[in-house]
Amino acid sequence: MTSPSVVPHHIAIVMDGNGRWASKRFLPRVVGHKQGVDALRRCVKACADRGVGVLTVFAFSSENWNRPAEEVSGLMSLFAMALTREVPQLKADGVQIHFVGERTTLSEKVIAGIEQAELSTASNTRLILNVCFNYGGRWDIVQAAEKLVAQGQPVTELNLNGAMALAHVPDPDLVIRTGGEQRISNFLLWQTAYSEFYFSDKLWPEFDEEALDLAIEAFSQRERRFGKTSGQLAEQAIIPTVV
Ligand code: IPE
Ligand code: IPE
Ligand code: MG
Repeated sequence: MTSPSVVPHHIAIVMDGNGRWASKRFLPRVVGHKQGVDALRRCVKACADRGVGVLTVFAFSSENWNRPAEEVSGLMSLFAMALTREVPQLKADGVQIHFVGERTTLSEKVIAGIEQAELSTASNTRLILNVCFNYGGRWDIVQAAEKLVAQGQPVTELNLNGAMALAHVPDPDLVIRTGGEQRISNFLLWQTAYSEFYFSDKLWPEFDEEALDLAIEAFSQRERRFGKTSGQLAEQAIIPTVV
């Protein structure tokens, strides 16, 4: 495929469809989640190769605790396993890892793994990877507001923005959701105010480089107006001639 004209700086992905991928094959749902880890590994590499600066992925939502206990414990074990298995390679590949979400309810071992992964990749600069785990967009807004209140700061848009869990990166340019559903499911509610949305029918384990390129290509063709008119954008694009 020819290289697309505009590569988004920040891509955020709702990695949905693991369960259906497994069910279609008469396999337990957790097998789909395992395939999902493989798909994420490929996607991180593909994003880094294409010059994407930030990749933010939704791995486990605040509401996913409501799934059957067996699936929740399978997801927790898989997360702990992926932490151990994937971080060394990510570190070697220049990926800076951040975990975004409520940590206090996770196990001590997982919290230690998260902290170690963040610390050991902090000086990497090739790609920032934010893994949203035990994350909810509403949780994020509430924790940011609580932070401001505790610090005695006024609740302004700027202050709230600085207290949000993704304050270390600019807002996503492109949000991709796989699995065919067209909803946000409590992902980045604050940060996606002006993101472009792209929905893929592919189930997450099937989301490959070609599918990523299609999403980037679609993004390239969008006109981001940020409240302005097309005419204004055209005027801005004209370089004024010096007389
Ligand atoms: C997304 O896949 C992964 C998580 C929510 C943890 P799902 O598990 O939601 O897969 P489907 O939507 O049931 O197919
Ligand atoms: C969103 O998928 C959460 C993640 C991908 C981690 P869900 O499968 O939980 O979303 P709903 O329930 O279909 O909205
Ligand atoms: Mg789902």
